[in-house]
Amino acid sequence: MRIAQISDLHIRPAGHLAYGVAETNGMAERAIHALLRMDPLPDHVLITGDLTDCGLEEEYAILKSLLKRLPMPVHILPGNHDRRGGMHAMFTEYCALDAHGRMNQVKDLGVCVLILLDSVVEGASHGAFDAETSAFLEQALAAHRNRPILVALHHPPFTTGISHMDAIMLQDASRFEATVSAHRNIERVLCGHVHRPIQCRFGGTIAQTAPSVAHQVLFDLRVDAPGAFTLEAPSFLLHCLDAQQRIVTHQVQIDRAPGPFPFVLPAELLSH
Ligand SMILES: [Fe+2]
Ligand SMILES: [Fe+2]
Repeated sequence: MRIAQISDLHIRPAGHLAYGVAETNGMAERAIHALLRMDPLPDHVLITGDLTDCGLEEEYAILKSLLKRLPMPVHILPGNHDRRGGMHAMFTEYCALDAHGRMNQVKDLGVCVLILLDSVVEGASHGAFDAETSAFLEQALAAHRNRPILVALHHPPFTTGISHMDAIMLQDASRFEATVSAHRNIERVLCGHVHRPIQCRFGGTIAQTAPSVAHQVLFDLRVDAPGAFTLEAPSFLLHCLDAQQRIVTHQVQIDRAPGPFPFVLPAELLSH
């Protein structure tokens, strides 16, 4: 089974660029095209937050029209740029609000279980692992003790070395790590937010952030690195579960590159 993880689309109203530079709507459309031309197609699509740039109804409507082109199930969770109310109103068939007003969800994908956590703090850029979400995770893990688990949330629970993003990572990360480390069947912790592909050992499993399908955060490990982004080639992650239920993750470029070229040269070229 294959799960494509796309992240941080930052959809804008029609005709608007993100930060006056990034044509995120067109980039999201290219990402959808890239998913649709995969062979085999992904079985599921996971979107790890920042679906829109400002949480506007018009932005969610544009995204909804894009996601309708996907034939496979789509699973979404909010990022700090989203607004739960508007997101839920547009995507009632994709997500639900719990009794605490959060978008914590469990999805049984057959060969594994996907736990989607809502790490959003309304009005803030950083994330939180609050008491309600902690209780939800404990309950979900207790209900699926012998199943491979993927836990997805927008904010990474580990520092990346990109200082301005580390300042707005998941708060209460050590409490989250204690829960993760108590469950050996958690195969991955999957995040967005950092707009770069980064992996880390975390709570005895692998935690990783996805690249954005739009703009990328500038790779800059100086302690005083300013917040900045680039228009590096966008990509997404493809998590493949094999027969041993091992997960192998690929980073897939969205735009076509020159090639493919065969490793074996035709005979007429070998003589040159
Ligand atoms: Fe983002
Ligand atoms: Fe974010």
